[in-house]
Amino acid sequence: MSIHDEVNRRKTFAIISHPDAGKTTLTERLLLFGNLIRSAGTVKAKKSGKFATSDWMEIEKQRGISVTSSVMNFPYDGYQVNILDTPGHEDFSEDTYRTLTAVDSVVMIIDATKGIEAQTKKLFKVCRMRGIPIFTFINKLDREGREPLDLLEEIEQVLDIETYPMNWPAGMGKGFLGVFDRHGKQFVQYHGNEDESVIPYSELDHSEHEELTSNLTYQAASDELSLLDEAGDQFSIDDVLSGKQTPVFFGSALAPFGVETFFDTFISMAPAPAPRKSTEGVIQPDNPDFSGFIFKIQANMNPAHRDRVAFLRVCSGKFERGLNVKLARTNKMIKLAQSQQFVASSRDSIEEAYAGDIIGIYDPNVYQIGDTLVEGKEHFEYDELPQFPPEQFKKVIATNVMKSKQFKKGIDQLVQEGAIQLYKDYRAESYILGAVGELQYEVFQYRMKNEYNVEVMFEPIGERIPRWLKSDQVDKSLFDERNMLVRDRENNYVVLFKNDFSLRWFKDKNPKIELIDLFEVN
Ligand code: G4P
Repeated sequence: MSIHDEVNRRKTFAIISHPDAGKTTLTERLLLFGNLIRSAGTVKAKKSGKFATSDWMEIEKQRGISVTSSVMNFPYDGYQVNILDTPGHEDFSEDTYRTLTAVDSVVMIIDATKGIEAQTKKLFKVCRMRGIPIFTFINKLDREGREPLDLLEEIEQVLDIETYPMNWPAGMGKGFLGVFDRHGKQFVQYHGNEDESVIPYSELDHSEHEELTSNLTYQAASDELSLLDEAGDQFSIDDVLSGKQTPVFFGSALAPFGVETFFDTFISMAPAPAPRKSTEGVIQPDNPDFSGFIFKIQANMNPAHRDRVAFLRVCSGKFERGLNVKLARTNKMIKLAQSQQFVASSRDSIEEAYAGDIIGIYDPNVYQIGDTLVEGKEHFEYDELPQFPPEQFKKVIATNVMKSKQFKKGIDQLVQEGAIQLYKDYRAESYILGAVGELQYEVFQYRMKNEYNVEVMFEPIGERIPRWLKSDQVDKSLFDERNMLVRDRENNYVVLFKNDFSLRWFKDKNPKIELIDLFEVN
């Protein structure tokens, strides 16, 4: 198969959701389709630590959640599917955001009984801002939930995106009859078990379906559907692919109901790997020379080997084991001898990969997040990965001062992985860690102890709003504990504002000082 054909059969996506919306249950269904697992219903086992698709680290097992993103891949219907797992816990990390730079689309799961929940709103918004195509699965239709129209309106308002229901539910919970499949022009009947039966629209007026069609719930849904057909948004694949419209599927991951139709439609519509911007212009995914970028680095996934693995998204060409590549940042040649693809809990060695694939490469401590690897004579770097400003800040202190060497080494390495951000108080040389969520501190503390043998304590500084300063506009006298002046890892000055009010007040008083919001810039 040509590189072009290989690229076009790749579908690389992430599933994002609020905890408990049903991501594990849905993922399991997809793994079943891909024959990666043999039976469903292992959700409980996962939560008790037995089913460990991505639970590499002890802390994940302890909390029953997936802390770091992992990758699952399988062939399906002629396609090569790559699912990037993202932590769904409420205090997910910057890692979660960064994973989105390595996918071509996302599946957003929403619990029909709850709608869009606070903590994950931001994650959804990041997808929206970055123009990533979003496919929505509204889950748990087998339970009494919110009105479908309500849910759509909420998605439209919160994400500022058009919705197009691919199917329309008739009832929910105990009275759930099934869905009108607008795409396949058929009614899919729910029978409360795994069996679904379909009635083409053209046969709905047959007498044997009278029991269904005379049901008031069915009729109400049918009326709503007519209204949607007349007054709702038109389906537009271009708008879907540019992230302006989200196709919405109603179903139940647990029943399961509507999952296979959802997946088949999603797979047929989701975009293949796209060209990517670099310092030398746009690089086509079927360009014969291999290239890719590192979006994540993880240390010690296997405690038996003290190894680091860099996760690389292939962007062009063909990866083969033993390939000689150049690390664009340093211009050094590297032989990619050890590489793995990640399937469920095992790490299989891989022979070849194409744009869209994610591979794990052994990192002898040379890679940084955002690094570009290119083959042969090529020389370019992919656009920098966006930084996601942390919201919480804590001073970190080693409880045993004798261990300052290991302390610094641990901090350096963990910060380099991008798991947490480091700032320094510009006067006292104390270390301040910034994170998107609380969980990152727990992971940091755990890993400092287990991997570097250093116990650390935190002194919370609280939630802060970071704004970067231009180097010629730093007037130290303007800052104090409220609006703390610190430096980031590259020694740029950053102000950690106490809250929105202090930020506004400062702006009013010092209109000439430019405050840079990295988040908005990206
Ligand atoms: P998560 O990974 O997004 O956190 O969610 P997960 O799949 O673990 O699902 C969270 C809970 O919701 C589980 O129940 C799961 O069985 C349930 N669930 C998922 N999909 C559906 C659905 O379509 N319908 C219904 N009714 N429930 C669904 P739990 O009681 O928390 O866990 P367990 O004891 O069943 O394992």
